[in-house]
Amino acid sequence: MKINFKKLAAILMAATFSLMLAACGAQGAQNEKSSAKSEGTTKKSKIVVAYFSRADENYGVGVITEGNTSILAKMIAEKTGADLFEIKPAKAYPKEYKPATEIAKTEKEEKARPEIVGTLPDMEKYDVVFLGYPIWWSDLPMAVYTFLEKENFKGKTIIPFCTHEGSGIGNTEQFIKDTTKANMKQGFEMRGATAQNSRDEAKTEIENWLKSIGY
Ligand SMILES: Cc1cc2nc3c(=O)[nH]c(=O)nc-3n(C[C@H](O)[C@H](O)[C@H](O)COP(=O)(O)O)c2cc1C
Repeated sequence: MKINFKKLAAILMAATFSLMLAACGAQGAQNEKSSAKSEGTTKKSKIVVAYFSRADENYGVGVITEGNTSILAKMIAEKTGADLFEIKPAKAYPKEYKPATEIAKTEKEEKARPEIVGTLPDMEKYDVVFLGYPIWWSDLPMAVYTFLEKENFKGKTIIPFCTHEGSGIGNTEQFIKDTTKANMKQGFEMRGATAQNSRDEAKTEIENWLKSIGY
């Protein structure tokens, strides 16, 4: 076999170059990683817990003075040192459970965007949003969409958490992602009655979940 040394040399040079490029890439990735790490340790990300919650009469818990989701929202804020923002509808829902569910059902069917009160958090200040809500008709309460559509979540991370009485978190994580285009982290779900009546258990579960996602 006739060896073409010129061709062989060209192949060897190309191979060496590819190896050099790969090594540079790996070094670059390493540098990126370590700078992100050092940023992570020096610059703590700013967090806000934004939540919707309704007190008064509710399913499985009777008449309550603080909503189930609100209890979890405060636990999360306390553990993470986050700011707290309540998504509060301008018009309160009826205190009785049944009429409240009927209004919520109509709002969902009409894709209503109930007005919310208060000064919205300045999202420029935050990197991470824990978003809390009760499951209403297998969806978010419509006022949560009002909030999501008013804010700009570009480049932010949303971490959902919800309370429910059997439906679980369902498709609400996807609904949030579709509405905001934010980066999403896997959410958390808990029975409302557990949050309301078994607070030690709820706190332990919340803390374990937060730990599992790095908080
Ligand atoms: C209007 C309304 C609709 C609800 N729809 C559902 C539902 O579809 N699935 C479910 O599991 N629980 C449903 N629930 C129960 C709530 O999700 C549950 O009680 C929750 O813990 C309430 O949280 P809050 O006290 O923070 O508002 C509904 C409650 C209300 C008031």
